[in-house]
Amino acid sequence: MYVCICAAVTDREVRKAAAAGADTLDKLAMALGVGAGCGCCREAAQQVLIEAGCGQGCACAQMRQTAAA
Ligand code: FES
Repeated sequence: MYVCICAAVTDREVRKAAAAGADTLDKLAMALGVGAGCGCCREAAQQVLIEAGCGQGCACAQMRQTAAA
């Protein structure tokens, strides 16, 4: 499924990039261009990062901790 239409990036590509260290939206934008266009995919990309269990230092991890509390 496409996450970012502007950059033609799929959820599989986001998961692969997250596993390689692109575990924040800013890093995803740098690596794949996700969210660097219109920006309307940022929430969906963030959700994919959360599902991918990205790094503990990223904003997603902080959201998980907040949600769990
Ligand atoms: S859909 Fe991702 S930047 Fe536009």
